[in-house]
Amino acid sequence: MMKRLPQPIPYQGSKRGIARQILTLFPDRVDTLFEPFAGSAALSVAAAYHNQATRFFLNDLNKPLIGLLTRIINQPQQIAHEYESLWRAQLGQERAYYDFVRDEFNKTHRPDYLLYLLARCVKASVRYNADGAFNQSPDNRRKGRLPESMRQEIFKFSRLLAGRTIVKCGDYQEMLEVVSPTDLMYLDPPYQGTSQNKDPRYYNGLDANELISFLAELNKQQVRFILSYDGRTGDKTYGVTLPVALNLYHLEVHAGRSSQATLLGGVADTYESLYLSPALTRQLQITHQGKLGALIQMAQSRREPYAKQLELGLL
Ligand SMILES: C[S@@+](CC[C@H](N)C(=O)[O-])C[C@H]1O[C@@H](n2cnc3c(N)ncnc32)[C@H](O)[C@@H]1O
Repeated sequence: MMKRLPQPIPYQGSKRGIARQILTLFPDRVDTLFEPFAGSAALSVAAAYHNQATRFFLNDLNKPLIGLLTRIINQPQQIAHEYESLWRAQLGQERAYYDFVRDEFNKTHRPDYLLYLLARCVKASVRYNADGAFNQSPDNRRKGRLPESMRQEIFKFSRLLAGRTIVKCGDYQEMLEVVSPTDLMYLDPPYQGTSQNKDPRYYNGLDANELISFLAELNKQQVRFILSYDGRTGDKTYGVTLPVALNLYHLEVHAGRSSQATLLGGVADTYESLYLSPALTRQLQITHQGKLGALIQMAQSRREPYAKQLELGLL
């Protein structure tokens, strides 16, 4: 059983819940684990804790978030102190103080303000309006994590990643120039709806075709990667289907139960899809025969084309 891993940044969409399952798909040796869509870096922390990668490269387009990650990793004392000051200053005027910090954050993009807002806002969700201003409301039932507990999370997080992590703000496509076949890339792009509308829950929408070309390029360079892309709750699938030509190996992992009401008023299981690149699949088949077999049983391939390719021995 995995110990509770540090997570100072509460982040909607964090992969903390399925990090353990993703780690089972790691090859024996990973020089650098790349997270081009780092968010709260849940997978890198898990991999660092379990010694499954030597170095880490965290990238995200959200500049204040990258500022916060940098500060947590490299200046833990300072950010813990800043959080505590904000947390204490709010006491007795929580709602008004949240609004004040949110206004200040929108002017300055200071990392400590972002940490305070994420600790206090509804569902830890980074929501921006059309002008790019953070506009999520506070969860008025919560004051945010207690400063002492936040300090511990920050320090544990920093100890795992400091001295061996590059943190960068940029577009995921820039990672093509720095990744190599001895590395592993974990891609967790923003949720893809079935419509072409940009999803306002994330910093930026993502063009599916650009992502597909990027994956094809990674394949050309023999890069080992794992992609989180779509999923399903009960029989309802979400997300865009990826082209079979990418030759990805599809697995589903159980991500928990959703209380989302079904017609019968019950609960449904939620599954998240993982896609493995051919370079990774080949290696796991050679070195982890038994393990991959067990994973295939644990996960279920629901996508016909992928199941078919497997049957035909094309993967
Ligand atoms: C699903 S979240 C990642 C969550 C992360 N795996 C975790 O455990 O916290 C997707 C992230 O992609 C970032 N993002 C959106 N568009 C991007 C782009 N073009 N390049 C890099 N990052 C991007 C968002 O800011 C967001 O943090």
